Amino acid sequence: MDKFLIKGPCKIKGNVYVSGSKNAALPILASTLLFDQTVKIKNLPRVKDIETMLNLLKSLGSIIKLSKNKKSVIITKSKNKKVFASYSLVKTMRAGILVLGPLIAKYHKAITSLPGGCLIGARPVNYHLSTLKRLGMKYQIRKGYIHANSKGKLKGTKIKFSNISVGATENSIIAACLAKGKTILKNCAIEPEIKDLTKFLSSAGAKIKWTGKRTVEIEGINSLNSASYSVMSDRIEAGTFCIAACITRGNIVIKNIDPKVIQTELNLLKKMGAKIKKSKNEIYIKGPKKLKSLNNIETKEYPNFPTDLQAQLMVLLCRSDGRSTITENIFENRFMHVAELRRLGAKISVKENKAIIEGGTSFQGAELMSSDLRASVALVLAAMVAYGKSTINRIYHLDRGYEKIENKLRKVGVNIKRIS
Ligand code: UD1
Repeated sequence: MDKFLIKGPCKIKGNVYVSGSKNAALPILASTLLFDQTVKIKNLPRVKDIETMLNLLKSLGSIIKLSKNKKSVIITKSKNKKVFASYSLVKTMRAGILVLGPLIAKYHKAITSLPGGCLIGARPVNYHLSTLKRLGMKYQIRKGYIHANSKGKLKGTKIKFSNISVGATENSIIAACLAKGKTILKNCAIEPEIKDLTKFLSSAGAKIKWTGKRTVEIEGINSLNSASYSVMSDRIEAGTFCIAACITRGNIVIKNIDPKVIQTELNLLKKMGAKIKKSKNEIYIKGPKKLKSLNNIETKEYPNFPTDLQAQLMVLLCRSDGRSTITENIFENRFMHVAELRRLGAKISVKENKAIIEGGTSFQGAELMSSDLRASVALVLAAMVAYGKSTINRIYHLDRGYEKIENKLRKVGVNIKRIS
C-alpha cells in the first residue's frame, strides 16, 4: 500500500494547476448511458474514482476510448448493452448509484448494487429511489441489489425533494431528460457540479431550464445528440491549495479555476488574514503571518461552506490565534481526522457534530493513518507544517480524488515523497 513521507515545516511558492472536477465528471459520465450517439468528455481528472466509473460504464456495454494522457474519453454505445451494475464496482465508489437513473430512463430496466455505507456516514440512497419512483420506476431490493424496471418511458411529474441531496438531484435530472412530458424538481441541490451536468446535457439537446434558485424544469425528449464537453475545474482541489498557501504562510497562483465557485471559502480565508487577488480564471493567495480564528463555521449545501473542505479548514484553524468552532451538518461521522490530528499535537474536542478547535498549535511529525478522501488531504496539510518527518498511510483514499497531489505540491516546495 502506498504512503507519503513528508518532511516539514515547509513554505509553498509558485503556480499550481487545478485538475478537472471529479464530482462533476462522475454524473456527466454516468449520463452518457442516455446517448445513442458518440460523446467526448474532456478535462477529466486522472483519479481512481474516474477509472472506476469508466470500468462501470464498460461493464454496462459502453465502448471507452481514453486519450493517451487519460484526460479525455470518447464513449460510444455498443450493440451489447447491459443493465447490471455489480457490487464489486459500486462498493468502492458511492457515485456508482448514478447509473440507476440513466439505465431506467433509457432501457426501462436496471439491476444496481446498493452502495452501502461508508466511513463518513450511513449515506442511504432513499432520496434517489423515492424520486425515481415518482417518475415511474418500480423497484425491489433483493440480496443487496436494486431490481428496477418501468413500463416503458418514465413520466414527468412535479417533485419536491424533502432534503437537499447532490446525488439524488443528479440522478433525477439525468432520468427526466428522456421522460415523457415535463418534470419539475424543487428544492434541488445547486452545487456548481450540478450546473455543469445540466450545461453538458443542454449542449446535447436536453431541454433543461433553471426557473428558480432551487427549481429546475426538464421537458423530456426522445434522444440526445452527439456532444463534446469539457468538465469544470475542481473547486475542492482549488480550496485545498488556498488553505495550503495560508497554513504555510506561502504564496501561490492557482490556475484554471473560476474564483466565483469558491467565493464563500475565499471570504473566510480573507477574514483569517489571507491576501487574495482574483482574475477570471486564477487566484493569487498569500498566507498571513498571524491567522485569525473563526467562530461558528457550519458546513451546509452550496453556496455555503462545503463539507468536503471541513477537514482541511480544521487543520488551518489549529494554527490560528484563538478558539474556533466547526459544526458538521452534512455527514454524521466526518470528524475522523480529529484523532489523527491530535497525534500531531492538535487540541480539538468534539461534542456531537461540533468541533472546538484551540489555536496556536505547533504540530510535531508522526505516523498517521488516512480514513477517507478529504481527511487524508487534511493530514497532508498538517504534515507540511509539522516539525520533522510524518508518514501518511493508506493514501489510496487520497488517490480516489486528488490527481498526483505529490507532484503538484513538490513543484511548489513541499518535501513529499510517495513510497510504494
Ligand atoms: C456528494 C459529493 C460529496 C459531497 C456531498 C455533499 C459526489 C460524487 N459526491 O455526495 O463529495 O461531500 O455531495 O456535498 O458528488 N442522503 C440520504 N439519502 C439519500 C441521499 C443522501 O439520507 O438518498 C443524506 C446523506 O447521507 C448526507 C446528505 O443526505 O447526509 C447529503 O448527501 P448528498 O448531497 O446526497 O451527497 P452525495 O451525493 O452522496
